[in-house]
Amino acid sequence: MPSTSQYYLPPSAAPKLEALVDEIQARPGELIDVNEIRAAADQLNVRDVVSSLPEGFSEEDFTGVLKLAMLTECATDSYGAVFEEGAKKWDAPWLGRFNKDVWVPDEHTHYTPYKPMLLSLGFSEEELEREMVEIREKHYEHCCGDTPIELTTYGVIQEYLTDNWHGLIAQLLRERAPYASHCANLVKRRETLHTVWYRDMTAVMVEENPDMLSMVTDTMLSFEMPGTSLVPPLGNRATEWMGKLEVDFKRMAIDFVRIFSEAAGTMRRNGELLVDIAVRRGYKMGPFPPKLVQRALNLLGGPGYGLLGEAVLERVGLPLPRDTDRNQNSGMRFYTGVYEKIRAKARTYVSSRIDLRSIIGESAA
Ligand SMILES: [Fe+2]
Ligand SMILES: [Fe+2]
Repeated sequence: MPSTSQYYLPPSAAPKLEALVDEIQARPGELIDVNEIRAAADQLNVRDVVSSLPEGFSEEDFTGVLKLAMLTECATDSYGAVFEEGAKKWDAPWLGRFNKDVWVPDEHTHYTPYKPMLLSLGFSEEELEREMVEIREKHYEHCCGDTPIELTTYGVIQEYLTDNWHGLIAQLLRERAPYASHCANLVKRRETLHTVWYRDMTAVMVEENPDMLSMVTDTMLSFEMPGTSLVPPLGNRATEWMGKLEVDFKRMAIDFVRIFSEAAGTMRRNGELLVDIAVRRGYKMGPFPPKLVQRALNLLGGPGYGLLGEAVLERVGLPLPRDTDRNQNSGMRFYTGVYEKIRAKARTYVSSRIDLRSIIGESAA
């Protein structure tokens, strides 16, 4: 695929992105009421959960999971600043406005339920406050590029993973501390919305300049959770804890394929994105090296990539967009009759030969 790795948006993009942020501001969803949570702090006692933790998951693991949530959330300003700077540098007032008026104030509410939970586990107020101050003052090294499309792609991944993290906590707390579980779910719901918002911003930019798909790949490949650099002793254990809690990595991988195929916007671009990832990860696509596949598909143009985009969705069991769907655009005109039958056979053939690791990494193995 053409890869310029250059950030450029045509003049038609800004009004669309401004309108998207207007839309978000008009319908921000239900925000978290911190006063309500603080008033119910006594119901955030999670001491009883300790005796019902899953086999092999210790109290130390449990407190680590909660602390990672609290500390990552309270460090919002560190990565919020990266978005602010990127928005200024690349002249994206829509992103600056979204960051300052919507995202940062929302994120500031997310650590609220976790502090009383940790207090109930024996941590002192001073200790927690000190740790939060330390983390806020720490220098944050951003993993990825600072152009708007790289920032929103980072947003998609970070929000999706955070959504899962709060969901994991809600699950752990569900039986013994239902109100605490409810609060974790309130945070989770915010992260779900954030994922969708960043996905839509990414989709608009890709639509306006498809050459920037390679910057989406850049970000996917160099992504690191903020907790990894801000709280390494905890952040580095996240995958281990997820494993102990039997997180369904395959489902997460499938979610990623779904979210990014939506961000890509068309089957053709979905195929391009996936091939680019496979090439850069160095995985084979069927019997051929991905670079060769990429070269062949570039010669073929749209239809090849479109078919591949569909084949990947089929491979992970996601439904294909319907023929009438405006996103269905594989560069061919006839999707009915004999042609569609042949096409479906080809798709299934390709699908059965895709090594999922090429797209979603080792977790799919
Ligand atoms: Fe958050
Ligand atoms: Fe978020």
